[in-house]
Amino acid sequence: MDFSLSREHEMIRESAFKFGQNEIVPGIRERDRAAESDPQTLKKMGEAGFLGVCVPQEYGGMGADYISLGIVCEELERADTSARVVMSVHAGLHCMTLMQWGTEKQKRRWLPDLATGKKVGAFGLTEPNAGSDAANLRTTARRDGADYIINGQKTWISLSDYADQFLIVTRLSETNAKAPYAAFIVDRTTPGFSSRPIHGKLGVRAGNTGEIFFENMRIPAENMLGEEGDGFKVAMSALDHGRYTVASGAVGIIQACLDACVKYANDRTVGGEPIGKKQLVQQMIASMVQGREIGRLLYYQVGWMKNVGLRHTREVSLAKWTNCAAAFDAAHKAIEVHGAYGFADEFPVERYFRNSRGAIIYEGTHEIHTIMQAEYELGYRSDKPLARDLPTWPFEKVPTEA
Ligand code: CAA
Repeated sequence: MDFSLSREHEMIRESAFKFGQNEIVPGIRERDRAAESDPQTLKKMGEAGFLGVCVPQEYGGMGADYISLGIVCEELERADTSARVVMSVHAGLHCMTLMQWGTEKQKRRWLPDLATGKKVGAFGLTEPNAGSDAANLRTTARRDGADYIINGQKTWISLSDYADQFLIVTRLSETNAKAPYAAFIVDRTTPGFSSRPIHGKLGVRAGNTGEIFFENMRIPAENMLGEEGDGFKVAMSALDHGRYTVASGAVGIIQACLDACVKYANDRTVGGEPIGKKQLVQQMIASMVQGREIGRLLYYQVGWMKNVGLRHTREVSLAKWTNCAAAFDAAHKAIEVHGAYGFADEFPVERYFRNSRGAIIYEGTHEIHTIMQAEYELGYRSDKPLARDLPTWPFEKVPTEA
């Protein structure tokens, strides 16, 4: 067993850290206050190569391994959650699912623009009446000659106003509520597509979130990922990738809490000594260290499983569940360490507290992951290998002909 990170991992960490501190942190308080997302950050993330970090080089990506993706998510979320959310929906939910389920022709059609940030991808599963209950979708796709006609709506869609294309999941009947699902890539320029932002969020205010609507939207059958009936599996595999980015990003929040608390605890004095000398403050800092170290081990393990092609639905659920809870706890404690200063945005910890709350809900709530972990242990949930695998790393050469 080898726990060391490679030189490439260290270089990617350094470059994502610098990007976060130089391109995201300056101005984040103002953007968070104004609830303003910044499309320039998205553009710069594309130029830096992060959007295609684990897309094979043949498709225009950096060709790094899946652990690298986790490291980028960690370092970007250390700056602000909104940047990690971009990685989650674009690199995780959209690109990796395309890598797993796309035909060679589809990969060559879409991945090069996505990997280089010329186009941005997002994901649409959740609906007003189907969040945890992903088997209850109402958005429908009806076959019409060489096309499908899509009607319905999705909500809580990250990058709803910016993404060029969406991976959406639909039911294959307008009348049968038990009909199987299909997944499609849809372009936002398709007639019948519209979006609307959601305002007033508790956290991730510098990130764009909204609803997307489909009204008699005609999509060619060649835009379907997998076959008719594969849609639920496509959605669940997408979540295996999205949850990985959320789990690794959560470690970045813990690190950001530590960055802020170590500085504050050394600067702030009580009774003539830094508060870092007080055991109760040390206890809180030690607990954050515990969260960071456990969190890293959990997400590195999942990254490794992705690299070697092992099914990891169980492990990624555990990592997402554990790390998001640890990040929220760390942010709560970080406010405690800062006392009244932690309650206003002069210091960043109140933003970490608000930002870390959302991740306990999205990509599987605390309750969904609790149930999944118990069901695996009780033998109620299958862990059998999947029919479609993500490409293993190092990536193999693929045929040039589609
Ligand atoms: N990959 C591929 N296939 C999978 C899979 C995976 N990870 N997980 C399950 N499947 C397959 C199974 O093998 C099974 O196929 P077979 O019948 O051929 O064996 C089929 O899918 C059904 O699997 P399950 O029986 O496990 O499905 P379930 O109904 O028990 O799942 C659940 C229940 C796990 C709770 C699931 O509904 C779930 O994860 N719900 C939460 C949904 C969620 O996280 N929503 C958040 C959406 S994203 C978001 O928040 C917005 C955003 O982007 C920011």
